[in-house]
Amino acid sequence: MQSWLLNHFLSDEEGSAARNFILSGVVWLIIGSAVGVVVAIKMSAPDFLGSIPWLTFGRIRPIHTNGQLFGWLSMVQIGLALYVLTKLTRVKLYSERLANLVMWVWNLLVVLAVITLALGMNQGREYAELIWPLDILVLTGLSLLAYDIFMTVLRRQERQIYVSLWYIMGSFVWMPLIYFIGNVVWLTPWNTGPGAPFGGALTGVNDANVNWFYGHNVLGLWFTTLGVASIYYLLPVTARTPL
Ligand code: HEM
Repeated sequence: MQSWLLNHFLSDEEGSAARNFILSGVVWLIIGSAVGVVVAIKMSAPDFLGSIPWLTFGRIRPIHTNGQLFGWLSMVQIGLALYVLTKLTRVKLYSERLANLVMWVWNLLVVLAVITLALGMNQGREYAELIWPLDILVLTGLSLLAYDIFMTVLRRQERQIYVSLWYIMGSFVWMPLIYFIGNVVWLTPWNTGPGAPFGGALTGVNDANVNWFYGHNVLGLWFTTLGVASIYYLLPVTARTPL
C-alpha cells in the first residue's frame, strides 16, 4: 500500500515529472482562461455577479493572472525545462520523485492562491499579490527544483553544455532571488510594518520599486529565459537542422 502510494503520487518513472508539470499547466490554462472570460465580461458589464464578494473584479482579476502565471505558464515551462534537461544531459533526472513532489507542492500553491485571493487575502502588489506563507511555498518549490536540476547537470553524460541548459540554470538561479527580493520575503507576518498585515511588503515608493523590480524581472529572467531555453532545443529538433 505504502509503495503503491509512493509510486503513484511520487513516481520514479523517467519523464513523469515533466509530463505531470505540463499536464497540470494545461489544466490551469483551462481554469485560468475560464476565469479570464468572467473578468472580461465584468469589464463591459460591471454588475455581472457583482453582489458576490469573492466574485468581484478586484478578487478574480488576480485569480486569473496568478492562475495563468503560476498555474499555466510556470508549470508548463518547468515541465519543458525538465524534459529538455534530460535530453541535453543524456541522463535521467537526479531525482524524479523530488520533481514530482514539487509538482504537487506547486499545484497546492495554486489552489491556495485561488482560495486566499477569493477570500480577499491579497497584498495589493500587482503580480506579487500572494501572501507570505505562499511566497514560502514558491521559494521552497524553486529551491528544490534548482537542486534537482544542478545535480542532474553535474552528472551529465554529454560534455558540452548546450545553450538551453545555460538558460535553464540561469532561470533557476535568478528566479528565487527575484522572487525573494520582489516579494520582500524577509518581512514576515510577525516582523512587518503597518499596512502589510500579511508580511512581505514595504511601504510607499520603496515598495513600488521592489514590486516592479519583481514585475519586470519575472518576465525577463523567468518566463523569457525558460521560453528561450525550450525554443533553442525544440526549433532545431523540429526543423531537423542545427541552429
Ligand atoms: C480566454 C482566455 C483569456 C481571457 C478571456 C483573458 C482575459 C483577461 C482580462 C479581461 C484581463 C484583465 C485586463 C485588465 O484588467 O485590464 C486579463 C489580464 C491578464 N491576463 Fe488574461 N485572459 C485570457 C488568457 C490569458 C492567458 C493564457 C494568459 C497567460 C499566458 C493571461 C495573462 C494575463 C495577464 C498577465 C493579465 C494582466 C495584463 C494587464 O492587465 O495588462 N491571460 N486577461
